Amino acid sequence: MTVSETPWWKDAVVYQVYPRSFADSDGDGIGDLEGLRGRLDYLADLGVDAIWLTPFYPSPLHDGGYDVADYRDVDPRLGTLAGFDALLADAGGRGIRVIADLVPNHCSWDHPLFRAALAAGPGGRERDLFTFRPGRGADGSQPPNNWPSAFGGPAWDRAREVPGQPGGAGAPDEDWYLHMFDVSQPDFNWHHPAVVAMFEDILRFWLDRGVAGFRVDVAHGLFKDATLADTPSPERSHAPSGYYHQPELHALYRTWRKIADSYPAATFPGPRTAVGEVWYDKPSTLRPYLAPDELPQVFNFGFILSPWDAASVRAAIDATYAMSDGSQAPWVLGNHDVVRPVTRFGSPAAARATALVQLALPGSAYIYQGEELGLPEVLDIPDSARQDPTFHRTGGRRIGRDGCRVPLPWSTSSPSYGFSITGSGHSSPAWLPQPTGWGTYSVEAERDDPASFLSLYKAALRLRRSHPALGGTGALRWLDADAAGPSPIRQPEGTDGRPPKGQLHFRREPGFELFANLGPDPVPAPPHREVLLASSPLPDAGGSALVPPGTTVWLAV
Ligand code: GLC
Repeated sequence: MTVSETPWWKDAVVYQVYPRSFADSDGDGIGDLEGLRGRLDYLADLGVDAIWLTPFYPSPLHDGGYDVADYRDVDPRLGTLAGFDALLADAGGRGIRVIADLVPNHCSWDHPLFRAALAAGPGGRERDLFTFRPGRGADGSQPPNNWPSAFGGPAWDRAREVPGQPGGAGAPDEDWYLHMFDVSQPDFNWHHPAVVAMFEDILRFWLDRGVAGFRVDVAHGLFKDATLADTPSPERSHAPSGYYHQPELHALYRTWRKIADSYPAATFPGPRTAVGEVWYDKPSTLRPYLAPDELPQVFNFGFILSPWDAASVRAAIDATYAMSDGSQAPWVLGNHDVVRPVTRFGSPAAARATALVQLALPGSAYIYQGEELGLPEVLDIPDSARQDPTFHRTGGRRIGRDGCRVPLPWSTSSPSYGFSITGSGHSSPAWLPQPTGWGTYSVEAERDDPASFLSLYKAALRLRRSHPALGGTGALRWLDADAAGPSPIRQPEGTDGRPPKGQLHFRREPGFELFANLGPDPVPAPPHREVLLASSPLPDAGGSALVPPGTTVWLAV
């Protein structure tokens, strides 16, 4: 298949699949690659250009697979390498590309390199691939520095406490090792050339198999300040620090870009991409990652961090749009790490309205599985069923991310609401419990309902493809009091305790306007020829459309 050399990723709609929660083909209650392969028609019908698969590699699953024990294989519970190839082929047959998740900051404590490092003992050269250090204090019983783990507690643990560590032989193992996430996720030492070389091989391994690119996990991590000096504030933040946003990252990403660009662009899947998960404190921290010879893309988390009011949503759009259009910084409403939009924005209506804002912006958009069904966050998972290390490392103070990872409902009926699609009908319960009533959000329930989330997403994605102003990277122009440019929007603050009033109104050429009413009162739609799509039903107001609160409309003008 020949494809245009204009990078497809610039305006792609990418669907994020969390494989263990998408579809289960063998009834063990765990989603797998074969389950996904069986549901590709659903994704083709939805109208996505690519899927991003979160990790499917062999893993002891202490962090949902982001603890990788082998970077070049498929976890046997999820499938095989041959099954992965078949998935790629079948997806490609539908014009759907596959993006793999690369986890370079850390591996699993079950990775053979870490096991070899443990076995080597203090001073062993194998330890140089990670960060092992003696502890502080007279007896070395304090961690080597004050860095915090993202999941709570210190970023260090003692080597001798790793389960399965033989110990006993030779000198006692007094070393600590660095893990910026879970204790089971030792950080690689990116200053070591063998680590750099290994990941170049891993990139090529998957690119040779035909992936269209990578999502790069914790792309602002990897290199650590070699002095390992204490951080002034032991509170974990996304600001530049000894463990985030180190300058060496940029040369690394220039190398990775060259590797990606060395694959032929003229045949499917087209120019390869890599999209970095870069969390940042302010736009200036993100800016260096947008250099044209580094990773093609970084996520734009503005919507995830924004409260749901017009001024904040507009500020979130403007902040990144001022530096780069959405082609380099795809728009994201949610993912497997954050509270689902329906719950975060406060209502299904708010999530629908925001989805239409997201999908009308220039550039690329990512949809996390289940957003198109309007799944809410599941808040009442029993403690005993919770899996996220954040929950366990904070003694339950932070509830963790399980609530957005509950297996998808495909049908209205039990067991597992169609998540397990075995011929026999028998299946184990889903690996995370699905709440009662989950079937009302199922694909079966929503497919033929014109008022459903699924119908809204399908209509929006169809229009994105067919309307000449949508999709693509053509600019947007704000149409309001501040239309001159990305200056802060002026919105009157509510004086009676109600949220501030506000609307979003922009135009894209030719002939498209988006109007979102995020204020408390209905407002007339701006002049238009036709309402192309509305996130909620519009009341009939005698010929002129009245846009209810919490509603976005797409207008032909
Ligand atoms: C990223 C992933 C998250 C994981 C963490 C550590 O933030 O999205 O799920 O826990 O990295 O790998």
